[in-house]
Amino acid sequence: MDESVMIWDTGALRNIHGQTVTFKGWHVIWSLAVDKIDMSNDDIYDEWHSRNDRAYIGYWYSRTGNGADWQWGGRLLNPSADLRPHEWSGGLVMREGTGNVVDMFYTSEADSPINQSVPSVSTGRIFADADGVWFKGFKTTTEMFSADGIHNANSQQDEYFDFRDPHPFVNPADGRVYCLYESNVAGMRGQFTIGGEEQGVLPPGFAVDAGAQYGAASIGIAVLDDGAYKSGDFSTARWTQLDPLVTALGVNDQMERPHIVFRDNLTYLFTISHHSTYSGDLSGPDGVYGFVSENGLFGPYKPLNSSGLVLGNPSSAPYETYSHFVDPDGYVQAFIDTLPAPGEDPNNPATFRIGATLSPTVKLELDGDRTFISEVHGYGQIYAQAAWPVGSAWDHRPATV
Ligand code: FRU
Repeated sequence: MDESVMIWDTGALRNIHGQTVTFKGWHVIWSLAVDKIDMSNDDIYDEWHSRNDRAYIGYWYSRTGNGADWQWGGRLLNPSADLRPHEWSGGLVMREGTGNVVDMFYTSEADSPINQSVPSVSTGRIFADADGVWFKGFKTTTEMFSADGIHNANSQQDEYFDFRDPHPFVNPADGRVYCLYESNVAGMRGQFTIGGEEQGVLPPGFAVDAGAQYGAASIGIAVLDDGAYKSGDFSTARWTQLDPLVTALGVNDQMERPHIVFRDNLTYLFTISHHSTYSGDLSGPDGVYGFVSENGLFGPYKPLNSSGLVLGNPSSAPYETYSHFVDPDGYVQAFIDTLPAPGEDPNNPATFRIGATLSPTVKLELDGDRTFISEVHGYGQIYAQAAWPVGSAWDHRPATV
């Protein structure tokens, strides 16, 4: 998309109801990014695999939302906003009821002196004219909440704890603002007992694998005080953490970038996970997994397609896509991680070619507790469900906000 940067996790500008929005006719996306150091690409493998230690949030804009058209806008947050050295995933949300205020919910991360990651938010304003899109503000950051050791594991309980990727949204059933995030089950790492509740119904003679208890991923959720959204007060005192919506105890240690789609009176929860984070003898591909509830946000949830797998990478290219994000119409964008070189062993990283760009967008049909791919679109194609300002000349779609 641009020779000077490598990108991975990406999301479209959206509203708090989850709809992708255009701003004054422009499509806008954010991406985690690193600047290329060696333009000859001799060091591309190392640059790519150390990217988390240099990650910042950048943005792109395009008239068409078409992969070939994205123009790189550069860094979104002002360096003064960084409380920690790394900016990781979150979401870019137009603040409802304001002219052009946007909130970048993101993960403020440092890996030393101890592993720290704090769901955070920085606020700015979006501007556009006939030539492009730019932002102002994003000078400070507010921390939203931290791992508390009660609803989710903290660094004392689990030195590899995950606590990131905030995804705020309005729950249509009660009109309140909630925030999903990636977390782990509270408790000491590796000391969980995997009992009947975690196993479910099993064939006779089944025994839990050694090491299964190292899988303790959860999808965390917090609720914002009424009124705080309108005033843009996302500080710690205004959030209450609740019990996780879904846990993967005994199964997998990471459920990243959780997000939600409300459709046909059903609640769909999506998350991305890795082959390498399954625990015990369990396995599954890198990809996007999903769960559905017939009873609204708080479940109970059951896995989509029985197994939970929605889109998995094929064994011939096990890491070709990752960090999928499903929009309310079922369009899924993701990035290209690594591709095996033609004729090479697909599991030999030494031969991998680096993607670092967006993959083709696909469309999912959500049919109750089953999903199907129905369309394949261009690389980095984004579709919008709404336009901003609502009711403006740009707003040629039904305004539902
Ligand atoms: C998903 C992810 C996120 C995290 C980011 C770090 O690809 O691992 O959970 O915020 O990437 O690069």
